[in-house]
Amino acid sequence: MRRKPVEVLIADGGKGEGGTLRRSLGMWQLTMISIGATLGTGIFVVLGEAVPDAGPAVTLSFVIAGLTALFSALSYAELAGTIPVSGSSYSYAYATLGELVAWICGWCLILEYGVSVAAVAVGWGDYLNELLRGTLGVTIPTALAAPPGDGGVFNLPALLVVLLAMAFLLGGARESARANTVMVVVKILALLLFCAVAFAGVRAGNYTPFMPLGMAGVSAAGATLFFSYIGFDAASTAGEEATNPQRDLPRAIILSLVIVTALYVLVAAVAVGAHPWRDFEGSEAALAGILTSVTGHEFWAVLLAAGAVVAIASVVLTVLYGQTRVLFAMSRDGLVPAFLSRVHPRTGAPRANTVVVSLFCGALAAAVPLGRLADATSIGTLFAFALVNIAVLVLRRTRPSMPRAFRAPLAPLTPLLGLGLCLWMMGSLDEATWVVFGVWMAAGLALYFGYGVRRSRLAATTEK
Ligand code: ALA
Repeated sequence: MRRKPVEVLIADGGKGEGGTLRRSLGMWQLTMISIGATLGTGIFVVLGEAVPDAGPAVTLSFVIAGLTALFSALSYAELAGTIPVSGSSYSYAYATLGELVAWICGWCLILEYGVSVAAVAVGWGDYLNELLRGTLGVTIPTALAAPPGDGGVFNLPALLVVLLAMAFLLGGARESARANTVMVVVKILALLLFCAVAFAGVRAGNYTPFMPLGMAGVSAAGATLFFSYIGFDAASTAGEEATNPQRDLPRAIILSLVIVTALYVLVAAVAVGAHPWRDFEGSEAALAGILTSVTGHEFWAVLLAAGAVVAIASVVLTVLYGQTRVLFAMSRDGLVPAFLSRVHPRTGAPRANTVVVSLFCGALAAAVPLGRLADATSIGTLFAFALVNIAVLVLRRTRPSMPRAFRAPLAPLTPLLGLGLCLWMMGSLDEATWVVFGVWMAAGLALYFGYGVRRSRLAATTEK
């Protein structure tokens, strides 16, 4: 139950073993980190899977999923502005709900970040194959492009993209953020290009009936599409590398969510306008397929596939970044081994940490099928979001007059709504996902009671 005081969390900011993280990220780069981590497989791949459920009202599903994300985003913004450190919700839980819950939260963040890197890397491999087929007429053989459960032996492209991201991260946060900014611009342009080209194919008749499967279909699609919003919180893992975290983190989190939601609704509206909703069933690279059918040649589809390859690579980069920083914070608190918070003096990057995390994610990406990874990601994320909403409520009670750079409007209503929506979405995930979650939690608790509880730095200082 021991809690780490907010002031101590902030005072520890930046400090690692043998060096400190560097403050180099401004508001623009932080926003790009959040957009980088969010915009990816959800819009390029999952949209196609959601249309058969919702019909043209998939646009509404994006709004519903976006609203769900928004309530939690307001809570993230409040805490990121109050406790601007790199541990994201792990640190917020440490300050408000105690060490055990913080550990559980950090353990869930490994599902949100570490496991989703693997899931997204697998999606990257699919688009790379699509691009190779469209440009060179070759594809990577299944044995080398799919994991054992999906008819292959080893997913080489998925491993490669993780190693590529690792190389950037070892060079430092500023360099990685620069590369990410370029990639984010490319992916926004790719989606705008899709809208411009596909717009010519929009037919009013495609929008009716708007809700062919009723509201149930719309909300089922909303739950699936929630995946496409995961990542808006990535800026909150950059608190100790931001130049003005109190001011910029809340802005970056909310701005990125607004930009992403607007793009999603626009792309979805054009996609269902240009392509009859029934024809989405079973189509894989849905957006690319629409461009081919609207224009009559494959050029635009290939261009879009190139955009998707860049888009998804930036998700891998920023989410991997987030995972290393959360683990950095946990290591500084003594809950995981100290070498994970060792900082390289020249680059200011936690190098050993980056290598360990990348090898873990790369191995997972190479060996496990995508679907299983994606569901595990959602449940872990929702749980972490739920804890952030609770943390806002707790901190408002325990430290009502603490200065807050941003206050969630209408609290306690918005955090309560955020909490309720997260729990409701968790409840809609299937039994198998809950079993995976239960096993993951049991493993986490065993590790905490076997290691962290005795090594905790906070325990050492309070017992003195
Ligand atoms: N939101 C991220 C994506 O859609 C996970 O790729």
